[in-house]
Amino acid sequence: MKIKKLYWSASASWYIENDSLFINGVKYSDDIKELFPKFYFMTVKGLSVTELLENYRDKDTNSIIMFIEKLKGEKILVNSLDDLNMLFSSQNRIYKDIDNSGDAVKASPEEREKFTNSALRRKVSNCCFPVELENIPAGDLINRKSVRIFDKEKKISFHQLSALLSAVREYENKKYLYPSGGGLYPVDIYVFVKENRVENLSQGLYLFIPYENRLAVVDIPEGDFKEAHYFSNRDIHESSAFSVYLVYNAEYSMPKYDGLGYYLGIADGGIISQALTVKAFSEEIGSCIIGEMNFDEISEYFHLSPLQKYLHCIEFGIEKKGL
Ligand SMILES: Cc1cc2nc3c(=O)[nH]c(=O)nc-3n(C[C@H](O)[C@H](O)[C@H](O)COP(=O)(O)O)c2cc1C
Repeated sequence: MKIKKLYWSASASWYIENDSLFINGVKYSDDIKELFPKFYFMTVKGLSVTELLENYRDKDTNSIIMFIEKLKGEKILVNSLDDLNMLFSSQNRIYKDIDNSGDAVKASPEEREKFTNSALRRKVSNCCFPVELENIPAGDLINRKSVRIFDKEKKISFHQLSALLSAVREYENKKYLYPSGGGLYPVDIYVFVKENRVENLSQGLYLFIPYENRLAVVDIPEGDFKEAHYFSNRDIHESSAFSVYLVYNAEYSMPKYDGLGYYLGIADGGIISQALTVKAFSEEIGSCIIGEMNFDEISEYFHLSPLQKYLHCIEFGIEKKGL
């Protein structure tokens, strides 16, 4: 499957300031500036590279091709759905107009802790007459927690892995244990197994087929995906026994929901993560959701279509005790 046209990404911005062209905040040469705004008007509607070049017959073809390739590399011109981080990065500058505290929060652990405390005690509106509810005990789930150091000497049994994935498999009559927008279940679940860490499974990237309750090999990468993770998450991935990658598949969602399907897929990703992490806890498997990574570094192993978009991943393994 291939998207034939090139599109100006919905998240990319351009403007002229002091007579210079800026695209996503980066200044471009006067030669490139001359292509605008026509270049934007054409690509926002979508067109092929050949059509694009035909519109600039009087210009140097090579420099236009190089410009197109640069914009493709930066995902400003796209021939797939926007990646999640691109999609939402458009919100940064608008949010920063109201509140610029983010730089301090990101820079210092103390500020981050203060920020977390303020988030957990936030007062959203001026409400009154609070009614105290019954105090219901949390039960065993109070002991669930994110695990960030896994025991590299311990294997996950095949039974444990099967039990974990039973939380997201299909049962008789197309029945799942978790809800999904429109009953489409458009999130594809990939499992990356490390060498000698899961009983009966060799190292490899597998696709979970929920209606067959099987794992099928997609690729056999060498080593692990540590380098694709942000620094603070690298040891979590390095020590885990296996990782689960959630990928939204628009082909089986957008025909019904158009662009909103992307949001519904993200919501499904959250529900799947809850189902898996709670099931992991009951199977004595530790887990940690990883919200952001440089998926581009490893995307080649997944062989995704332009309509499949990575959401987030979860690391699993046996918790390393006694640290
Ligand atoms: C969407 C999402 C993204 C997360 N991303 C990360 C992450 O990148 N690294 C990490 O160490 N923990 C991550 N976590 C785990 C949270 O930090 C953790 O759930 C939270 O601090 C509450 O702690 P607990 O799970 O131990 O109760 C993530 C959790 C969620 C739900």
